[in-house]
Amino acid sequence: MNQKLRSVLYVPALNEKAMRKSATLAVDAIIFDLEDSVFPDQKAQARSCLAEVLTKERDQFQGKYLAIRINAQDTAFWNDDLAMVNQVRPDAVVLPKVVSAQSIFDAAARLCTSNDIQPKIWCMIENPLGILRLENTVENGIKAGLECLILGTNDLVKDSDLDPGKDRCNLSPWFSHVMLVAKSFGVTVIDGVLNDIKNTEALSAESEMAKALGMSGKTIIHPAQVDVVNQCFSPSPEQIAWWKKIVEAYNRPEHAGSGVINLEGTMVERLHLEIAQRRLQEYDQTQ
Ligand code: COA
Ligand code: MG
Repeated sequence: MNQKLRSVLYVPALNEKAMRKSATLAVDAIIFDLEDSVFPDQKAQARSCLAEVLTKERDQFQGKYLAIRINAQDTAFWNDDLAMVNQVRPDAVVLPKVVSAQSIFDAAARLCTSNDIQPKIWCMIENPLGILRLENTVENGIKAGLECLILGTNDLVKDSDLDPGKDRCNLSPWFSHVMLVAKSFGVTVIDGVLNDIKNTEALSAESEMAKALGMSGKTIIHPAQVDVVNQCFSPSPEQIAWWKKIVEAYNRPEHAGSGVINLEGTMVERLHLEIAQRRLQEYDQTQ
C-alpha cells in the first residue's frame, strides 16, 4: 500500500469524545470499532454516532487513513454495519476473525464503489484457523481488495490457550507464519495491541519486535501509546543519513554504470539503492 502505517488507533465508535480526540492525535490511521468494544445492545447507537461524526466532521481527519471495524458475518450486525460503511465511505473496512477468503468476497460484494474506488479490506487474523489457512485467504483475498492484515493477539491468546511468554516468545512462530504469507503476496501487517496502557517499555519492546519481523506498525488503544509507536517505527537519523549517502553515491557520474560500489568500506549494490529509495520515500510520507 502507498501509505505508511506506524500507529493505528482503535476508537470505540460509541465514544464520541474519543473519536473527536483521535482527529487531533499524530496517528497514521484510525480504526473506528463497531465490534468488541461496543456492547451488543449499543451497536445501532454506535453506528449512528460514527456516521454522524464522519459525515459532519470528516475534514478534521484529513491526512489520516480511516477504517471501520465491523462485526463478523455470522452476527446479526454485519448487514447494517456494511450499509453504514457504504454511507460513510472510509478508506478501509476491517473484518474480524477471518478464517477464509470467502468472508472477503462476501464483504467485497456488498461494498459500493464510487468513481471506481472501493474501500480496501483489512483482515483481523486472530485465531489458529485464521493463521493455518492464511495462505489461501491472502492469495485469493487480494483479488477482492485485501490490503492489510492486523494481528488480533488478544483473541489469538484466548482461542489457543497459550501464554505469550517473555517478550511474546511463544507467539513468535505464529507471527513468522503470518509474515511469510504476507511478504509472499505483498500485503501489509500491523501488530496487535498492548493492553498495559502506560507500560512504555513493553510497548517499545513489542514495537521493535514487530518492526524486526517486517510489520509496518502497531495497533494501539490509547493516546499515551502514540509517540512510542511512531518513534519505534520511524528510522533513526543515522539510518536516514546512510540511505541518503547511498542515493548520492549512485547519483555521481562515475557510478552511473556501476552495479556495485564501495561506500565507506561497505559493499553497496543497486538493491541497496532500491531499499534506500523506498525507505526515504516512506519516511517522507510521515513528515
Ligand atoms: N482514542 C482516542 N482518545 C482516547 C482513546 C482512544 N482509543 N482512549 C482514551 N482516549 C482519550 C479520552 O477520551 C481522554 O480524553 P480527554 O483527556 O480529552 O478527556 C484521554 O484520552 C485520557 O483517557 P483515559 O481516562 O486515560 O482513558 P479511559 O480510562 O477513559 O479509557 C480505555 C481507557 C482502554 C477504555 C480506552 O482507552 C479505550 O476505549 N480504548 C480503545 C479500546 C478499543 O477500541 N478496543 C478494541 C480493540 S482492542
Ligand atoms: Mg478480536
